[in-house]
This record gives sequence, structure tokens and C-alpha cells, in this order.
Amino acid sequence: TAKSNTVAQAAGKKYFGSATDNPEFTDAAYLAILSDNTYFGQITPGNSMKWDATEPEQGTFTFSGGDAVVSLAQGNSQLVRGHNCVWYNQLPSWVSSGSWTNATLTAAVQNHCSTLVSHYKGDIWDIINEPFNDDGTWRSDVFYNTMGTSFVDVALIAARAADPNAKLYINDYNIEGTGAKATAMMSLVSDLKSRGIPIDGVGLQGHFIVGEVPTTMQTVMEQFVALGVEVAITELDIRMTLPETDALLEQQKTDYQNVISACNAVTGCVGVTIWDYTDKYSWVPSTFSGQGAACPWDANLVKKPAYDGIIAGF
Ligand code: XIL
Repeated sequence: TAKSNTVAQAAGKKYFGSATDNPEFTDAAYLAILSDNTYFGQITPGNSMKWDATEPEQGTFTFSGGDAVVSLAQGNSQLVRGHNCVWYNQLPSWVSSGSWTNATLTAAVQNHCSTLVSHYKGDIWDIINEPFNDDGTWRSDVFYNTMGTSFVDVALIAARAADPNAKLYINDYNIEGTGAKATAMMSLVSDLKSRGIPIDGVGLQGHFIVGEVPTTMQTVMEQFVALGVEVAITELDIRMTLPETDALLEQQKTDYQNVISACNAVTGCVGVTIWDYTDKYSWVPSTFSGQGAACPWDANLVKKPAYDGIIAGF
């Protein structure tokens, strides 16, 4: 049968990838599939490069979890997507509950991004994650509340200086179809471009629900690309209300195919990453009560109809 990364590259994409997480590396059967670069040409650490994992105390950096992901990827000739530098979630309390001024938080963001991106030099980085609310307003978090929108500039400039070769992204969800949040992201990209702030790409996370994939994905991706950035689908999964049925699995196959086809139709859409490849390790059941079965491989590491949808989409 056709292999997802091989097929993606034959279609002109840079990669088809998967998220993973360090505890999963002790599962030999899981690791064997993850390490097959005909399936996955890229991996994203699901947790081990986040702020709480990498700078648990101010100025003390712990790279071991992320290093394990990088060394796995290097051994398999896979690209790494660094994830992430600045996000409101999974912050150590010294960041989320610190008493900050604009100047002190600017220095902390600068140091965090610079240290992270220079340690994990290479491929692709989600520098900013989830900056907007669903209505397109800025998320009220410690960064925005202390620094205004300048946290975006500060992080991107520090990242570019730390590794001029890395592709720097802003990543968010509910920007995959037209609407206020996608429009807000486009305004941000235009503004950054007009002021010469480094920005290379926009990540569309793609956490979808079976039967509810936006029909305007290709349009939105073309609009981003027209602003002079690349795009990628960075965290694709398509969940359903359990229990799974044959009908839901067939709809899920169609949904995966439609997402891949939309990326495939846009030259500037460089790749697709699924948010882990198997239902065994999906974040969905523990996050969305009663939902699951969101990945293309089932909990026994057997391919589902969704996998064939991915192949058909490229
Ligand atoms: C998720 C991880 O997969 C979980 O293991 C963790 O408990 C919470 O975060 N959007 C993102 C990712 O950008 O970092 C999130 O990852 C899923 C939603």
C-alpha cells in the first residue's frame, strides 16, 4: 500500500508528519511506525519543547525531552517542527503568575525564544501559538496583558536572530475556514510584513470534528499565501462522538481526504502534520469528553479508512 510521506512528497509537498511525545518512545511497535520515514517525514514534539518543560525556572533550561525527539528525528532523516516558544498554556507559574513589567517580560520572552531556537536549530518553529480568541480579538494572557501585541515582534525577532535558517510560524486553530479569526490572522501577517518583522508561515492546526471540516480551507490558504507566507496544516485530527461506527469512519475518511486535497491544491501549503498518528495516544479523549477515534491509525496501530482518505487526497 502507498505510504503517506512518499505520496505527499510525490505531490510536491515537503513532508507528511506526525506529532509524538516522549513517553510513547518505550512502545516499540508504535516507535517502529513513527520511525518509518516513508510514512512520516517530519515529527513535532507534543509537549517536550513547551515552556513548562524547557524553562521550568527562570534562566534554567532543560532540553533533555526535546533532545530525545530531535535525535530520533535525525536518526530517521525526519524534519522537526519546534513547538512552541510563546503560548498562554503549559507555562511554568513563574511566567503565568509573575509580577511583570513590559521591560522584564520582554527580556524573559527574548531569552526564552532565543535560547530555545538556538538550541533546537534547524527546520521549522511554531514561535507564537494561539494568540487569538475565536472572535478575532487578542487572547487576554500574560503576554498580551503585559506587552500588548509587541510580544509577537519580540519573539519573532529573537527567533530569527537565533537561527536565520528556521522557518518561523504563527500557529492557531479555527483559522482553517473564512471568518473573524482567519481575518485577524491575515491582518497580523500583513502588519508584520509591512513592518519588516520576520514571519515565514502560518500554521492551521486542524483539530476538526467528523462532518464539520470547513469547506473554505483552500480559499483561506490561498489568501494567506497571497500575503507572502507559506502555510501548513500542523495538528490535524478529526474526532467523533463515540462509539465509532462504520458510517462515522467513512465520513472521517472523506473528511481527511478533503483536508489533504485542500493543501494539495495550494502550492504554498508545504506539508501536513497529524496530531499523533494513532488513537492509542491521541489527546482527544482526555480533552473532549465522549469524543475520540480522531487519528488515521486505531488504538491497535491498524490503519483506518481515514488513512486511505489521506492517500487519496494527495
Ligand atoms: C496538547 C498535547 O497533545 C497534550 O498531551 C497536552 O496535555 C495538552 O496539549 N493545540 C496545541 C498543542 O498547539 O500544543 C496541544 O497539545 C493541542 C492543542
